[in-house]
Formats: sequence, C-alpha cells, structure tokens
Amino acid sequence: MWSFHKWFERHSLILLVGILVVVSIGGLVQITPLFFIESTIERVEGVRPYTPLELAGRQIYIREGCYTCHSQMVRPLRDEVERYGHYSLAAESMYDHPFQWGSKRTGPDLARVGGRYSDEWHRAHLENPRSVVPESVMPPYAFLARAELDTANLGAHVRVNRLLRVPYDDAQQASAATDARAQAEPLGEDAYEFEQRYPGAAARDFDGDPARVTEMDALIAYLQMLGAGIDFETYQAEAPENRR
Ligand code: HEC
Repeated sequence: MWSFHKWFERHSLILLVGILVVVSIGGLVQITPLFFIESTIERVEGVRPYTPLELAGRQIYIREGCYTCHSQMVRPLRDEVERYGHYSLAAESMYDHPFQWGSKRTGPDLARVGGRYSDEWHRAHLENPRSVVPESVMPPYAFLARAELDTANLGAHVRVNRLLRVPYDDAQQASAATDARAQAEPLGEDAYEFEQRYPGAAARDFDGDPARVTEMDALIAYLQMLGAGIDFETYQAEAPENRR
C-alpha cells in the first residue's frame, strides 16, 4: 500500500494526473446532478420562451456586440437593486442560449430595460443615442431601421433551441418566419395565429414603419421584453422544499 504511494510521490507527472482525477471527481459529483435535477432552476410565473421576432432581435444584439458594453444581470447588491430593480433570477436566463450576463458595463445593465422606455425612445436612441441622451458614448445603429429582417433561418433557430430543451412545439417551429412578421404586423392576417401560439407576447409595429419588418423591429421587440415578464410586486421566492 505505502510503496504504491511512493510511486505517486516520486513521479511528478503521475502525481499531477492523480490530483486531476481526484479533483475532477469532486467537481463532477457537485456539478453533474445540477444538469438533471428539475428543481435546480426555480419555476417563475411570467418567464416564457422568446418569440421568433425576439429571437431574431437577440441575434442582432449578439451580432452587433451590444454585450461588449451592456450586461444583463442585476446582482443582489443594494446599489444595483435600487438602480435596476429586483436582482436577476436563474429562471430569467433559462431560455438564453447563450446567456448575456456579462460583467462589462460601459452602459447600464439591460436585464430590466423592458417597458422602461417607449418604442419611439428606443428607435430614436438606437438611430442616434445623442438625440435623447446628449452625453451618451453609445454608437449609432441607424442602419437597423433600413435593413429588412431576414426571417429565412428562424425555423432552424427555433429547432436548435428545441434541441437545447426550450419548449417550442412543432407548429412554432414550422411557422417561425410568419410568426416573426405577424408580431410586427398586428393587423396582418397571421396576427390571430401568432397570439394563439405566443399568449402574452406584445404584438405591435415596434419601429414606427408599418410598411416593413426591419431589424429595428426585432431589436426593439427584444429590448422591450427584457425583464418585463415577471410581476415583482407579487413574486415570492419558492421555498426549495416546495419546488417541483
Ligand atoms: C460602446 C459601448 C456601447 C455599445 C456597443 C452599445 N451601447 Fe447601449 N449604451 C451605452 C451607454 C454608455 C449608454 C448610456 C447612455 C445612453 O443612454 O445612451 C447606453 C444606453 C443604452 C440603453 C438605455 C439603457 C437605460 O437603462 O437607460 C439601451 C436600451 C441600450 N444602450 C441598448 C444598446 C443596444 C441594443 C446595443 C447594440 C445594438 C448597444 N446598446 C450598444 C454604451 C453602448
């Protein structure tokens, strides 16, 4: 037994491999169950998967690198909670692939920006941030209002999210492209179907240009739903023993 130990102590490389094996057992025992236990993430009323238009907006958010200046996680610290609202819950990013938490804040946290400003404000701000916040250092994104939204890949996007266990159904996957348009055209012929498939999602012309569905529509739809689903007036954290 002890001579076996000597063997480990005399060869630094074997010792290193031994240490890695032992440490990773500890890590795996702690981390692996979290992927399978249902109660890891508390279920919270009001958290829903993104609509296709919001998903598209989220892709634009990632494409344009908004995350390089904005985080999406309110930490449970007094100054953050007073400024941004209730601290972020795990459930709020359960459908985020990839999540946008971040830690770089050249601009403010956006986890609770939904509903804080009007659509018109967002459009003016994205076209030229200085028009509404004179001291802003945020770059302008006016081209988004001119770019027609490409909906061709949205079905595939929904499918990939399904593989990652976001609960979309077949109909939502098949009609992702029409649903994206329908959300920005509330008077269009697909509007009713959209509302049936995504109850509670806001359908309206987000960018002030009813003739077209643009990337600006998608980005504003996404920004307006960030943190807006949960009613924190009535929210009560679930006791762990009551979790499903
Ligand atoms: C170079 C850094 C930078 C980048 C990149 C950037 N922003 Fe900003 N953003 C800021 C700063 C600074 C502010 C605060 C001043 C202002 O309101 O313009 C801000 C403010 C905001 C606000 C208002 C937040 C509030 O609570 O008042 C929103 C919404 C926003 N940005 C969205 C975006 C989106 C969407 C993108 C990507 C398309 C983006 N930003 C890219 C720096 C940036």
